[in-house]
Amino acid sequence: MVDSGTDARSRALYARALGVLPGGVNSPVRAMHAIGRDPLFIERGAGAEIFDADGLAYVDYVCSWGALIAGHAQPDVLAAVAAIAARGTSFGAPTELEVELAEEVARRVPGVEMLRMTSSGTEAAMTAIRLARAHTGRDRVIKFAGAYHGHSDGLLAAAGSGLATQAIPASPGVPASIAAETVVVAWNDPQALARALAAQAPAAIIAEPYPANMGLVPPAEGFLELLRESCDACGALLILDEVISGFRVARGGGGELSGVRGDLVVLGKVLGGGLPAAAVGGPRALLEQLAPAGEVYQAGTLSGNPLAVAAGLVTLALLDAAAYAKLESTTRALAEGLASAAGGRAVSVQWLPGLLTVFFASSAPHDLERAKRCDLDAYAAFCRGLLARGVYPPPSQFEAWFPSLAHGEAEIERTLEAARGAFEELG
Ligand SMILES: Cc1ncc(COP(=O)(O)O)c(C=O)c1O
Repeated sequence: MVDSGTDARSRALYARALGVLPGGVNSPVRAMHAIGRDPLFIERGAGAEIFDADGLAYVDYVCSWGALIAGHAQPDVLAAVAAIAARGTSFGAPTELEVELAEEVARRVPGVEMLRMTSSGTEAAMTAIRLARAHTGRDRVIKFAGAYHGHSDGLLAAAGSGLATQAIPASPGVPASIAAETVVVAWNDPQALARALAAQAPAAIIAEPYPANMGLVPPAEGFLELLRESCDACGALLILDEVISGFRVARGGGGELSGVRGDLVVLGKVLGGGLPAAAVGGPRALLEQLAPAGEVYQAGTLSGNPLAVAAGLVTLALLDAAAYAKLESTTRALAEGLASAAGGRAVSVQWLPGLLTVFFASSAPHDLERAKRCDLDAYAAFCRGLLARGVYPPPSQFEAWFPSLAHGEAEIERTLEAARGAFEELG
């Protein structure tokens, strides 16, 4: 158990960080506000574990928000990055490895013939939207409530009140005129989708095929197919944002798992093997509209960075059929164990290979409104209890857990032991 004295170095670092980083962090969820405690500062990771500044070990289920599907400091990834780094870290000119990575992605992801790489998923999603607008000559974009596609202006939009179809800014600083080009529709709601489509044909529907940013809320049967049919019927592009699901829920991501093909696919996280890399992929006819092949402008100083590309290539090489079988059995054991540890409490565990959410609700939500009705205080207390017992869960009900290939039986057992204690403490 961690008592209040044992996180002294994390506390001191947080106090310092508050002086120079807004909120003490470089990305909001890290501050752990949603679970009512201060952040832990992390010093190192190895396999499935991270170690904080006070030397305490945790079984890690954040794994850099899903980027580390092979676990921390995976030796093959480290060796590749070190070897490439010794030759220079960035050139701002093409390299052979980028071509190799694009070829490998094209072999794996349905519908991808070409890739444009970026440094973040935010940029990749933004680029996909720009391409869809250029291709269709339309401005409107449909997205789903509870989905996250990065923090570009048009995608930081929230549903307006009542039946208003145009969205409103989800953050100060987002122009209302830009948010108004986005329509936010409830996930898994065919009628809401039909209303949005009837109001105006969009350039694109953008969706996470297996949404994991309101906790994991898979599509209802037929919903992804409906998105595909709706796009085909009105000449819009279907953008599958696979930043989380890509290379995780299956070798070829959510497109492979569902059998529903996107016109454009947004990739990130696993693609860079823990270093910054993301991409938009699709057929040649669409991708060659990007400059310099075409006229749609997009660029990036560090895009296709050699270290990130090397880490991504090695990570993808590790992801063979045996790896997916292991990821599935690990996630199943964890999900079933957590559900059983919860006993008779109003908890439901939703999972897919490599992803799960422990919802504090008696049945798993099918949209954002239901997810918001979970017992957020209980989730927060559960997370604090896990942290005190050496398990590091995502510090928000609205995020997914990311078991990795480095999580084995021992880590699952440690996790379940901690979970039994944390649930008991809830009463
Ligand atoms: C589905 C999805 N799309 C896009 C993004 C944005 O990616 P990044 O944080 O690399 O900008 C995220 C980030 O978590 C995501 O989960």
